[in-house]
Amino acid sequence: MPNIQIMPSLLAADNGRLADECRRAESAGADAIHVDIMDGHFVPNLSMGPDFVAMARDATPSLYRSVHLMLTRPDQYADPFLDAGAQTLLIHVEAGCDPVPVLRHIRDRGARPGLVLNPSTPADAVLKLDVALFDEVLCMTVNPGFGGQAFIESVLPKIEALRAAWPDMDLSVDGGIDGATGVRCAEAGANILISGSYLFRQEDMGTAILDMRHAGEAAARPRSARH
Ligand code: DX5
Ligand code: ZN
Repeated sequence: MPNIQIMPSLLAADNGRLADECRRAESAGADAIHVDIMDGHFVPNLSMGPDFVAMARDATPSLYRSVHLMLTRPDQYADPFLDAGAQTLLIHVEAGCDPVPVLRHIRDRGARPGLVLNPSTPADAVLKLDVALFDEVLCMTVNPGFGGQAFIESVLPKIEALRAAWPDMDLSVDGGIDGATGVRCAEAGANILISGSYLFRQEDMGTAILDMRHAGEAAARPRSARH
């Protein structure tokens, strides 16, 4: 049975207690904390900067940090986030610079590079690239910029296509993920579920993470049964 990883998105945490919220995610059994970085240009919203990644590193040094750069120029900002402790750095294929040298740079610096696709961006945008350049593909299941939006179901066939092409790639989903939509994504082939408002509004995040992971694992097809 494929492992399903669950990553709470810090964007939905209580902003007045972010260090505590990182500790809550860690105690709840999260596989990583997902940190959303927005520049007010690539997306119509502003969020955190490198200091928030450093805060997560200081609050919960053992909790893996996956950082989602919603930036027009990730080439200009990769280093400050890596310096602050980003372990996975996810950049958008739609960004305003060539993603290839940025992916190479992230790997050269010892971190894990990933590519993100907006809901309307076809799978071909990453399928045409050299697969050795990245370790994860994140399919946005909302248009990026805000938490709490409704899951876009029409992204599911893209996840299926990517899973069919790459049986071993880490495939993540982000946006509108709860117990029910997480299962749909796992069925389609996603193995990393990023969830903000659903997980952070739980009184018992630990049970919600366990349930989401188990339901996803039950729904996922064994990798060997994929074609
Ligand atoms: C959206 C962000 C997401 C967001 C998800 O632009 O990339 O990570 O926090 O939040 P929910 O789970 O509330 O849709
Ligand atoms: Zn995100």
